[in-house]
Amino acid sequence: MNYLHLLQNRFACKEFNKEKVSTAKIHEILQAGVLSPSSLGLEPWTFYVLQSPEKIEKLKQFCNSKKQFETCAFAVILASKNNFEPQGQTVQKALKRREDFDKVYELYSPYLKRLESKNAHEYGALQCYIAATNMVNCAHTLGVDSCIIGGYDEESINKEFLPKDEFCALVLTFGYKASGQPKHKKMRFSFNEKVKFI
Ligand SMILES: Cc1cc2nc3c(=O)[nH]c(=O)nc-3n(C[C@H](O)[C@H](O)[C@H](O)COP(=O)(O)O)c2cc1C
Repeated sequence: MNYLHLLQNRFACKEFNKEKVSTAKIHEILQAGVLSPSSLGLEPWTFYVLQSPEKIEKLKQFCNSKKQFETCAFAVILASKNNFEPQGQTVQKALKRREDFDKVYELYSPYLKRLESKNAHEYGALQCYIAATNMVNCAHTLGVDSCIIGGYDEESINKEFLPKDEFCALVLTFGYKASGQPKHKKMRFSFNEKVKFI
């Protein structure tokens, strides 16, 4: 599938038809997340997959877009680590995989220092957004529809589903579209309005 064609046709699905998605397809979609690039190669994410109606119902309570949760085949919480202290477990575990650890650690140290406290949330969320993009686009290539959900009560999701050192960066719902979807034509500003060759 041509990539621009994919982007033209993927849409935010507001209602699914409750049909299940095969395990093979679910794995492929998640693998697109796992293979995503991340700044400094820290891969700060964990993808929590919810398939049982009870868990999806629980998640729905904390999210604004109710219909998607009532009809989706599965939902994914994209969680990020919330602490990137240079000497901490998350950073060390990620960077120690590299043969050139000493060199890289020194090279990255100014960036890691900046990440330590107040930027941690922003950094983690940005990385999860990249993984989310890959997951929804991969899903579309498999004929699976999706909706990105940014409207939720983060504190409640963190408390209900996540370990203390992680936060919810984004939620995704997946399934097959209900008839009548998408309800709207693709709406984007024009190329010339959004692209400036400078
Ligand atoms: C970060 C992010 C958060 C979003 N949050 C929601 C949401 O909470 N509920 C919802 O129905 N759609 C949500 N959307 C979908 C957008 O409204 C939708 O992508 C946008 O209107 C463009 O429409 P399209 O994706 O169908 O082209 C979100 C999209 C993004 C990228």
